Amino acid sequence: MVKDIVIYPDKRLKLISKEVTEFNEELHELLEDMYDTMVTKKGVGLAAIQIGVPKRVLIINLPKENSEDDEIKKEDTLEIINPVFIEKNGSWKNQEGCLSIPGFYEDIERAKHVILEYYDRYGKKHIIDTDEFLAVALQHEHDHLEGKVFIEKLSILKRKKFEKDWKKKHKSK
Ligand code: CO
Repeated sequence: MVKDIVIYPDKRLKLISKEVTEFNEELHELLEDMYDTMVTKKGVGLAAIQIGVPKRVLIINLPKENSEDDEIKKEDTLEIINPVFIEKNGSWKNQEGCLSIPGFYEDIERAKHVILEYYDRYGKKHIIDTDEFLAVALQHEHDHLEGKVFIEKLSILKRKKFEKDWKKKHKSK
């Protein structure tokens, strides 16, 4: 089911999400809702807190590189539960956006390469070793679990401009 997205500066975006302890039907339903919501809102990643659920769950479905059809396939969705970074290194800058901050995009610098330990929907442990686009997406979504959004990485000047523009934009509605 498509859910409403929690929009900045909603205080729920500052919550530290809790670990998943039961890999049950409720979790699977949450993952389905997150997928439906992400695809409908045309995002490439979503953390559970963005639909108001403070659990350490995120999904990512990046457009495939070198692929002719840009159709989103459900089976390509990475479902990540209780993620823990075991390595982060290098540096890479890429443009980021967020469904909770619609219409705003900015270059953000993050680690280029990451190794992440996580659980799938059945409670099986996995390790992913990746870089660039997926590494950055994992860091962006993981930040949501820690109550952080990507605009916190802006310089003071850019952040001030963002806040001013955002207030203006959302007052006129
Ligand atoms: Co986001």
